[in-house]
Amino acid sequence: MSRRKQIYEGKAKVMFEGPEPGTLVQYFKDDATAFNNQKKGTITGKGVLNNRISEYLMMRLAEIGIPTHFIRRLNMREQLVRQVEIIPIEVVVRNIIAGSLAKRFGMEEGGALPRSIVEYYYKKDELGDPMVSEEHITCFGWATTQDLDDIMQMSLRINDFLTGLFLGIGIKLVDFKLEFGRVYENDSMRLVLADEISPDNCRLWDLKTNEKLDKDRFRRDLGRVEEAYQEVARRLGILPEGAPGDAKGTETVQ
Ligand code: TMP
Repeated sequence: MSRRKQIYEGKAKVMFEGPEPGTLVQYFKDDATAFNNQKKGTITGKGVLNNRISEYLMMRLAEIGIPTHFIRRLNMREQLVRQVEIIPIEVVVRNIIAGSLAKRFGMEEGGALPRSIVEYYYKKDELGDPMVSEEHITCFGWATTQDLDDIMQMSLRINDFLTGLFLGIGIKLVDFKLEFGRVYENDSMRLVLADEISPDNCRLWDLKTNEKLDKDRFRRDLGRVEEAYQEVARRLGILPEGAPGDAKGTETVQ
């Protein structure tokens, strides 16, 4: 890990300079945080699983025409991605009442929303990622109205597609968080899906039992965290059945 130039270290990932200009290597750590870094821990094998889960979902999204930063997986913990200028907005899409939505409005978790809700949060750890409106985003110049139209359209399309994909493997997509970035090509700018899509930033409930198969198991001390991430990978068909050790590898294969 140390031979390359580190560009950025986040809570769950490290970005290194990539082999070609305009690329980065995204390294997935086992570190987990919650409540804006107040709770810290390690989920053994999480980085390996999230690397594969995010690879799989980004590739499926690319197939339906969603532009993403993903280029290819390099090894157990790393993927090659396009270097993007991250838009400092976390886009949350919700289908079922849970988490901060339930808390804010004093509602019980689990109720289906009559239509999906898209929310924006300003990505700023020091401030605890405050919720913002389109007005704040355009007024402060974080994105234009046109950018937000594109982001909203892509987010809803991603939601439709992922909701169906997860339903097919007996999982409810309760809510999730997306990040987008800008890529400059010749004289034009394009928005692409960036970051990761994994049980770290989605709420995934078993269709029949409502068992949580995501980071809420860590946030709420429910136990069996690694097993939940493994179960998602297994159902997606990317963790060979009967070979859970496959996901436990912590070595970086060069
Ligand atoms: P919330 O209910 O806590 O607002 O979370 C909504 C969704 O966004 C949930 O799937 C978890 C994800 N999320 C992140 O990925 N990063 C964050 O910092 C937060 C607060 C939520």
